[in-house]
Amino acid sequence: MDRTAQLTARVTERGIAYDAPSTASWSASLHVRAARVLAANWTGGSTVPSRSLYPHQWSWDSAFIAIGLRHLSPLRAQTELETLLAAQWEDGRVPHIVFSPSVPLDAYFPSPDFWRSSTAGRAAGAPRTVQTSGIVQPPVHALAAWLVHRADPGLSRARGFLARVYPRLATWHRYLLRRRDLGGGGLVSVVHPWEQGMDNSPCWDGPLARITPAAARSFRRADLDHGAPEDRPTDLDYGRYVRLAADYRDGEYAGGGGEFAVEDPSFNALLIASEHALARIAAELGAPGAARHARAERLTAALVDRLWDDASAMFLCRDLRGGTIRERSVSGLVPLLLPGLPREVAGALAGTLRGPHFAARTGLVPSYDLRGPAFEPNRYWRGPAWFNTAWLVERGLRAHGEKAAADALRTAFLHTAGDSGFAEYVDPDTGEACGAPGFGWTAALTLDLLHDMDGAMETGEEGGDRG
Ligand code: SER
Repeated sequence: MDRTAQLTARVTERGIAYDAPSTASWSASLHVRAARVLAANWTGGSTVPSRSLYPHQWSWDSAFIAIGLRHLSPLRAQTELETLLAAQWEDGRVPHIVFSPSVPLDAYFPSPDFWRSSTAGRAAGAPRTVQTSGIVQPPVHALAAWLVHRADPGLSRARGFLARVYPRLATWHRYLLRRRDLGGGGLVSVVHPWEQGMDNSPCWDGPLARITPAAARSFRRADLDHGAPEDRPTDLDYGRYVRLAADYRDGEYAGGGGEFAVEDPSFNALLIASEHALARIAAELGAPGAARHARAERLTAALVDRLWDDASAMFLCRDLRGGTIRERSVSGLVPLLLPGLPREVAGALAGTLRGPHFAARTGLVPSYDLRGPAFEPNRYWRGPAWFNTAWLVERGLRAHGEKAAADALRTAFLHTAGDSGFAEYVDPDTGEACGAPGFGWTAALTLDLLHDMDGAMETGEEGGDRG
């Protein structure tokens, strides 16, 4: 935490205590600072997560960014999602990166010449006019589209926003549900740690151990030009990411029969929340939404059936080749987002958040078990607290009536985001900034928590819009 943080946060026996963000001037100044980050990261059609570390458009970043941008410019928020969806492949996948042609090739690795989307992705229908990666990221987009629409329904209707994005979102979900149910139990599998989004989570240590890393001299990491090595994944992990991605590319991005296939709670929970949002979008457009709500409920049942672990009181990942992964990660808490979760499951998750594995001193949610053997407070997804997952958990606590816990998490989020300079992630106990500064989704979700106090995510089917 920097010096200004001392004005609003105090270290106590039990952790860091924050003054409530009650004054209008405090909120106004946070708003202005967050808005400045988003303005600086805006490229004209979309927003980069970070000017230095991530200089292109990232899929789930854009969804979270749109959720915050809607409070500044509903038009930009709509454009953000439209730009991403314009790069959708014909098979329905929404790529995890859409490359900007104006950025030098060596600014980010793996660059377009690694993915070769327009040639290796031709059979899968990669776009010809824009270069993309060939893997996906969590499907937060329909949820984002719905929230963006709700911010200014008049503008949305005048521009035909939902009518334009709905078919693309529907095809995106169809791709995941039909092509990625690799375990045959109804849930979607990811085929690369970058797809799940928490790249170097200790959850992947087991499955990744099977992968022969690409030779270190065969590629050059660009992330270390901008991020501290101790905050980033190791070279060994990178070698494995590169091997997996190259194998997938060399198979023309088809199927999913590779060495890495994992059913992940967060990825699937976000799909379920987005499926409910898609039902609402359908209803708004005058089409039936009931079938989608029903499908989302079936997916929720499959999630509980396949990934809930009573002993840990949270969801765990399942390695399709090796079985349940017995590591506790924040991914296993994200399903709290779903109002349709059985009451006892939601209650158990709220208890786990308060317990020794996840109750960090900042009041944020660590990405990995504070007591886990692989815990590292600074290294990317092996312990630090991230703001997108805090936002999801905050919304979930609110949806399940845990108002005091949600308010506390919101307060911790706003203080730590502001005090860290909207860092990519922070040490979960000290709040020390890690990764990139001026990070897009940190700023965007700060705005969302400042302006959307009731957290009306509408991620369940109540609300009387059954089509
Ligand atoms: N998160 C990955 C990276 O750090 C891939 O998107 O580059």
